[in-house]
Amino acid sequence: MNELMMASPMARAKSELTGNQVNVSLAATFEHTVGTPCCDNPKIQTKNVDVFYAENHAIQDVSLDMGANEVTALIGPSGCGKSTYLRCLNRMNDSIDICKVSGDFILDGEDIYAKSQDPVLLRARVGMVFQKPNPFPKSIYDNVAYGLRIHGLTQNKAELDDMVEDSLRKAGLFEEVKDRLNAAGTSLSGGQQQRLCIARTIAIQPEVILMDEPASALDPIATAKTEELIAELKENFTIVIVTHSMQQAARVSQRTAYFHMGRLIEVGETDQIFTNPQHELTEKYITGRFG
Ligand SMILES: Nc1ncnc2c1ncn2[C@@H]1O[C@H](COP(=O)(O)OP(=O)(O)OP(=O)(O)O)[C@@H](O)[C@H]1O
Ligand SMILES: [Mg+2]
Repeated sequence: MNELMMASPMARAKSELTGNQVNVSLAATFEHTVGTPCCDNPKIQTKNVDVFYAENHAIQDVSLDMGANEVTALIGPSGCGKSTYLRCLNRMNDSIDICKVSGDFILDGEDIYAKSQDPVLLRARVGMVFQKPNPFPKSIYDNVAYGLRIHGLTQNKAELDDMVEDSLRKAGLFEEVKDRLNAAGTSLSGGQQQRLCIARTIAIQPEVILMDEPASALDPIATAKTEELIAELKENFTIVIVTHSMQQAARVSQRTAYFHMGRLIEVGETDQIFTNPQHELTEKYITGRFG
């Protein structure tokens, strides 16, 4: 391991950034989050969040609210902690032994990390779509029906059929698969598998949907469909999306949070972040000067 790898994240920030084209260091420019981490009608509130993977301080004192029926975009350079933060919101980091999470996480006034909170039920309320599609080794139909069955959300087969069809339609996949609902989910193309996973997630009508770069494996048409879907879903759900595409963040979200080396640098209305960023690091990232 070289010296730089062993240095603290702050020292690495200084060294990486002053060492190349960007003459700005995080230590020199970061005091606190710029903008408005709170919002008027929060669905999820997080406060003073820290996440460690063993010694690696991956998220540092992040406070951020996510508004109900809004799309919040998390952006920032690779490794800045976007996925780590997102996974905290439905306790997906629980299964990583070396991962230690602290801070407040509140969903509609309820503590997400309370002992009484069942993570399986929590994840039914806070669903997640991953970067890499992960269909179950089951048929297309059964993938979508899975959550509806285990949570007993339908009364009979006809209702289940309707819910499966409706979810596949909303995910923009039904027309492509309606004649082969019994084929394996894994027999679909990558982009189709991703839409299948979206259908599976929305089938159980979660309150919040977390999306970690959901369109990175999709072609432009499927990406456009996913973005339309997000716009539609926000009428009923709260969405938090990680994306590397600035255009996508600008198109789909109402609020944008910019992360850098584990810190939340700036958060605000999406239009403001992209047209009038207040922090130097945000400005450099969105103008493509690093990242
Ligand atoms: N399962 C893990 N075990 C140990 N360290 C991890 C784990 N997941 C992430 N990390 C570390 O946490 C830090 C943040 O990683 P994270 O995956 O959250 O970044 P990211 O912003 O999502 O990056 P990318 O844009 O590349 O997906 C990195 O230093 C990474 O090495
Ligand atoms: Mg990530």
